[in-house]
Amino acid sequence: MAALGKSSLLCRCLISSKAIRGSKQLSQDAAIRQGLVGMVGRTPLVRLNKLSDETGCEILAKAEFCNGGGSVKDRAALFLIRDAEHKGLIKPGGTVVEGTAGNTGIGLAHICLALGYKCVIYMPNNQSQEKIDCLRTLGAEVRSVPVVPFTDPDNYNHQADRFAQSLENAVWTNQFDNTANKRAHIETTGPEIWQQTGGKVNAVVFGTGTGGTLAGVGTYLKEQNPNIQVFLADPQGSVLYSYIKHGKLERSEGSSIAEGIGQGRVTNNLKDAPIDDAMVIQDTDAVAMTFRLLHEEGLFVGASTGLNVSAAEQVAKLMGPGHTIVTCLCDTGQRYYAKLFSRQVLAERGLLDCIPEAYRRSLHD
Ligand SMILES: Cc1ncc(COP(=O)(O)O)c(C=O)c1O
Repeated sequence: MAALGKSSLLCRCLISSKAIRGSKQLSQDAAIRQGLVGMVGRTPLVRLNKLSDETGCEILAKAEFCNGGGSVKDRAALFLIRDAEHKGLIKPGGTVVEGTAGNTGIGLAHICLALGYKCVIYMPNNQSQEKIDCLRTLGAEVRSVPVVPFTDPDNYNHQADRFAQSLENAVWTNQFDNTANKRAHIETTGPEIWQQTGGKVNAVVFGTGTGGTLAGVGTYLKEQNPNIQVFLADPQGSVLYSYIKHGKLERSEGSSIAEGIGQGRVTNNLKDAPIDDAMVIQDTDAVAMTFRLLHEEGLFVGASTGLNVSAAEQVAKLMGPGHTIVTCLCDTGQRYYAKLFSRQVLAERGLLDCIPEAYRRSLHD
């Protein structure tokens, strides 16, 4: 391990790349003594009761918003930092630089505070104000940059890379192509799902940003039982559905209100992922499901979760009653309050009518 000092003082005897492997290897006591880092992983698995009863399937979701930084990206953030330490790329007091739609940044910023690193985040300038405010509150320096494709040298990821290279003792953690991200899910999320379902899982389905969650969980579960079906749920405006169905990177129509998911390329994390099938979920379905989850299950979540659960419902209908389908609750609706819960924003995007009248009381003007 290259990095010692404050980070190792905090959790010297507790963390090694081995210790953060499958949650069953980490005792509750060890997790408690890791402070915030011990709050990454071991999330509850929740039955979505209404949908499960309706479809005759068990539709289960990993409550990833219960991670210490509040999202599905905390596991990747921790593994990316541990990977950089392990490779000697960052020393105590150094700077973690990342390009992120927000949640990975929020996860990194929490962990950087706990471990004594600085954090600089490059972010496309179309992400929610709540996430930017949260990052700044967490002490991260946020650089909001114009949205341009990955092939453009000014894409937020390339800017993050160049900035890290310009600093002493800094690392660009590179969540999209650094497979420490996928490893987080091979070593923690996958084993947790296997354990929590007692191995009785028939399918998993996730939307993808970096692809780390889907690829990691899919890889681990297929190793346990190759019959488990792995589905990719793509939002409007992403290329992955076309890639999986036809081998072509063709964008589907539109652009999605859901943040953190959708891709224009095949990342290293997604490459070679064992994916059986893919589906495009329209925003109307993702948003309608987001409000159903709130009012029918009491789960206040963002639109990528609505998309995941809408896809899980489709998989349940496809497979028929009696199957167990697992997805995840990525983050909370609070991160999108100004946008996703705004009557005006939803009306402008033509998404108001998909929300049942009775559920519109959750909207603000
Ligand atoms: C809200 C949200 N949902 C889902 C994802 C997708 O996760 P992954 O990057 O593992 O594909 C992200 C990624 O940033 C996200 O922010």
